[in-house]
Amino acid sequence: MQTIRGFRDILPGRIGLWQKVEKEASRLFEAFGFKEIRIPVLEKTELFARSIGETTDIVEKEMYTFDDRKKDKLTLRPEATASIVRSYIQHKMYADNPIRKFYMTGPMFRRERPQKGRYRQFYQIDVEVFGVASAYIDSQLIYLLHNLFKNLGLTGLSAHINSLGCPECRPAYQKTLLNFLEAKKDLLCENCRRRMSKNPLRILDCKAQTCQDAIKNAPAILDNLCDECDNHFKIVKTTLEKQNVDFIVNKTLVRGLDYYTRTAWEIQTTSLGAQSAVAGGGRYDKLVKELGGPDTPAIGFAIGFDRLVEVMEQLNIEPLEPGLDLFIIAMGNEAMDKAYHWSCNINQNGLRSETDFQGKSLKSLMKKANKLNAGHVLIAGDKEVKENAFILRNMETKEQVIINGDSLLADLINILKKQ
Ligand code: HAM
Repeated sequence: MQTIRGFRDILPGRIGLWQKVEKEASRLFEAFGFKEIRIPVLEKTELFARSIGETTDIVEKEMYTFDDRKKDKLTLRPEATASIVRSYIQHKMYADNPIRKFYMTGPMFRRERPQKGRYRQFYQIDVEVFGVASAYIDSQLIYLLHNLFKNLGLTGLSAHINSLGCPECRPAYQKTLLNFLEAKKDLLCENCRRRMSKNPLRILDCKAQTCQDAIKNAPAILDNLCDECDNHFKIVKTTLEKQNVDFIVNKTLVRGLDYYTRTAWEIQTTSLGAQSAVAGGGRYDKLVKELGGPDTPAIGFAIGFDRLVEVMEQLNIEPLEPGLDLFIIAMGNEAMDKAYHWSCNINQNGLRSETDFQGKSLKSLMKKANKLNAGHVLIAGDKEVKENAFILRNMETKEQVIINGDSLLADLINILKKQ
């Protein structure tokens, strides 16, 4: 039996970078006041269709949707934002305190054509903020991403930002764009010709060269914003500048989900071929109301976890590999019996220890301790058992101390905890 196409196992040997990211992300998010939320992987199809947009690629052709036994239409979540909005409304989280900040990590499902950096089950680290209309929060989320990537040692990423306007200014812009596109219609790809009536903004980030050429001089939404949107975007930019976060204003960035208003952004890399977006996000001030909640501004982003790890691998960033605190070399039955109990006790105290029951030689066990990256080695051979005095070796400094068997556990735990 094999995994299905676009689905994969992430084996223990490769998990170190994933854990490093998770640890740093939750540390940083918690410091910025975000709380973890966990949401189901399965929701009613309608939730995604209504929020992501009926005419987006995700909803039109990428969702894993099926009828359950009662003929309800269900979908494996293709993203987290819609579910978190549903949760915010369902639990009336707006009632006592409308300002809520969440983060979550988990698998998402999109039936795209698999390739490097693109999977059918992939993972996102998702962050959402509800109830804050101020542009400072837009800058803060981009600043947060910038710092997370910096702390993880990533280089060569660039933040592309744009404003997608609001229901005040976007309809007029859409008309201007359509007028422009009408004259270029014959040059557009088939997909984009179809998009003209449904979702003309998406034509702006079509990857087809013919479309790119055709839209070269297309009017930009950034030049057609209402005063409020324009002012909002200015604050985002000046705040980022003050915080030394580099960014590129990308007038053709429109994102693949329909719920966005105003600021939208992507963090892009050149090292994953066509799959250049490592993270993407934006403001979605109308969605909570559209899904039945009170009028609540909101904003968030998601990091493509798989892609992030692939970039880290390319940069040879060290994974999180917590070595062993202690390896116990036990030779002889009596020593093994003691080693077994000591090791369990030490692990129970939150320290990492291991022993070996295969009756190998001192030399081969020392080799194993080195391979496991053990900080200390405790040597328990027949002689040590007989004298009730055991050798503890610090593998880094090579210093050795003798530990009396009567107070061994307490002494060991003391020494190891100080490391
Ligand atoms: P998105 O741009 O669709 O946004 O996805 C965010 C990130 O997920 C992408 O930048 C990419 O790194 C990763 N990703 C997407 N599809 C795949 C795939 N098939 N394989 C691997 N990685 C993938 C959203 O999902 C929004 N919910 C983000 C958001 C949160 N906006 C506001 N709040």
